[in-house]
Amino acid sequence: MTDIQTTLTKTPKALPPSDKLGFGNYFTDHMFVAKFAEGKGWYDAQILPYSPIPMDPGASVFHYGQALFEGMKAFRQADGKVVFFRPEFNHNRMVEGAARMCLEAPPLDLFMEGMQQLVKVDERWIPSEPNTALYIRPTLIGTEGFLGVRPSKETMFFIILSPVGSYYGEGSKPVKIWTEETYLRAAPGGLGAVKAGANYASSLKAALEAKKKGYAQVLWLDVEHQGIEEVGTMNVFFVFKNEIVTPALNGSILNGGTRDAVVQLLKDKKLPIVERRITITEVIEGLQKGELLEAFGTGTAAVISPIGELHYRGKDWLINNGQTGDLSKTIYAEVTAIQSGKLPDTHNWITPLA
Ligand SMILES: Cc1ncc(COP(=O)(O)O)c(C=O)c1O
Repeated sequence: MTDIQTTLTKTPKALPPSDKLGFGNYFTDHMFVAKFAEGKGWYDAQILPYSPIPMDPGASVFHYGQALFEGMKAFRQADGKVVFFRPEFNHNRMVEGAARMCLEAPPLDLFMEGMQQLVKVDERWIPSEPNTALYIRPTLIGTEGFLGVRPSKETMFFIILSPVGSYYGEGSKPVKIWTEETYLRAAPGGLGAVKAGANYASSLKAALEAKKKGYAQVLWLDVEHQGIEEVGTMNVFFVFKNEIVTPALNGSILNGGTRDAVVQLLKDKKLPIVERRITITEVIEGLQKGELLEAFGTGTAAVISPIGELHYRGKDWLINNGQTGDLSKTIYAEVTAIQSGKLPDTHNWITPLA
């Protein structure tokens, strides 16, 4: 089914100034909503004015945390054309995540049609200045009202849109990172590999404490406080003299779409990119020996976020003298050029707005 009923708002909002967007501060005029019930399938797909969603207070999302989301972007290219970056990747990740969360995943056509039609309706909200985009947040929640722990027999799929600028106030300036040894984001067998709301609930306290100490994000370690997992809401890359390392997808880190694209671009350049377990001890030794040249995070929101300073056990280590490294700059320029249409899309990452 992709029969989508549309009700347009009678009170369109004023557009926010594009130099004041920040990240996630504004929502567009409309949202997409579709429902699923066991025995009934998907039904009632609608685009309607952005508004609160009425919900049974017993809904499983409130009590048992059945919530999963995605994050991706649409861009307005120089010629005015609107494109999506890797929406199939996000759909696929949502399907895998839904299986882990015992939620029903929307089929590809519902996901794509909902997104396409919603973005079309709210097209005027897509900013065009450099480093801006329309952030797309597809979300799945368990909506059945009951008490007693079991999966919800009903799922709601909705999509909301937010015009965004740079994720960190500072743009893509190098960030200071806190290596976290008290709190854990995820553990083997847990939810770390899927974009479950619960992972973010688990991360809030560490991020808050790090911010109070002046750090932008947290570097997450594994249960042994050795293996590096990811950084805040990004995957992480370390550029050593002889190899570039990003933690392997070990089941407790998110399979980032940007990570995947960056690995591919590095391979295209025949650079020595390795996906493997990497420890904090190795990173600190690399810094001591001058062999760790750069580090950066990758994610939809910030694209590439250089790491200028890493705190570990009472010491702040400067990386590349706190400056953005050459590889970070090159990769940032390349990913954003593919998104903006300035470089050809040789990997089929771009989907046009229909
Ligand atoms: C925990 C976490 N890791 C990594 C990423 C990067 O994933 P992607 O590149 O698909 O945005 C995100 C999302 O943005 C995230 O929330």
